[in-house]
Amino acid sequence: MNARIDEIAPDLYRISVYVKEFDLQFNHFLIKDDEPLLFHTGMRGMFPVVSDAVAKVIDPAMLRWIGWSHFEVDECGALNEWLAAAPQATPVCGQLGAMINIADFANRPPRALDPVERLVTGRHRFRFVPTPHLPHGWDAGVLFDETDRVLLCSDLLHQIGDVEPVTSADITDRYRHALATYQQSPVLMDYVPYNANTRPQLTKLAALKPLTLAAMHGSTFVGDGAAILLASADVLESVSSAMPSLV
Ligand SMILES: [Fe+2]
Ligand SMILES: [Fe+2]
Repeated sequence: MNARIDEIAPDLYRISVYVKEFDLQFNHFLIKDDEPLLFHTGMRGMFPVVSDAVAKVIDPAMLRWIGWSHFEVDECGALNEWLAAAPQATPVCGQLGAMINIADFANRPPRALDPVERLVTGRHRFRFVPTPHLPHGWDAGVLFDETDRVLLCSDLLHQIGDVEPVTSADITDRYRHALATYQQSPVLMDYVPYNANTRPQLTKLAALKPLTLAAMHGSTFVGDGAAILLASADVLESVSSAMPSLV
């Protein structure tokens, strides 16, 4: 297992591990700033690979913040490994995630971000936007870098394959393909639920006018992020309406 490192925006490093078995990239984002932040710890099994990759950019012991979207192994499975490697690091997540998962799971207490609060890491200023059940999980949210308008968007805009690190092409068809493919699987189906809150939540994220959509799985999109997010609501709605009835 190898990691590919790309600086995809100023201070923003994409550390990508492609897993052939799943035909899927797992992307971890390092923001190099006065107080470095890692978004997505990766799975415990990937920790040696991801930490070696981080070490090519900064001393991992200097990490200050470790964030993610929702409680799942690719998001925060290696959190305690990172806390051991980085003595000054603090987990950072939404208030709900901190309460229901991280206060117990993590070996050090988290900083729980109120939606109106800002996390300033130096040049960058982040806010955690709660998006319950989008992409999935009660505690889900996204981290938005207001400085460079980068949306760390977790499983949103998921794309299959070992794709290019960055693209300006419309990725909504790739997203539709990924969701439709998973929908055919009795195990992977219903990956991202579509409900009455889905479109309003994506509209709220579009209003942030992101210029970069840093996806956990697949290429990072650079361009009119609002348009892609709004189009992704149509994708989710159409894939969910094509769902076979549950038995
Ligand atoms: Fe997920
Ligand atoms: Fe994921």
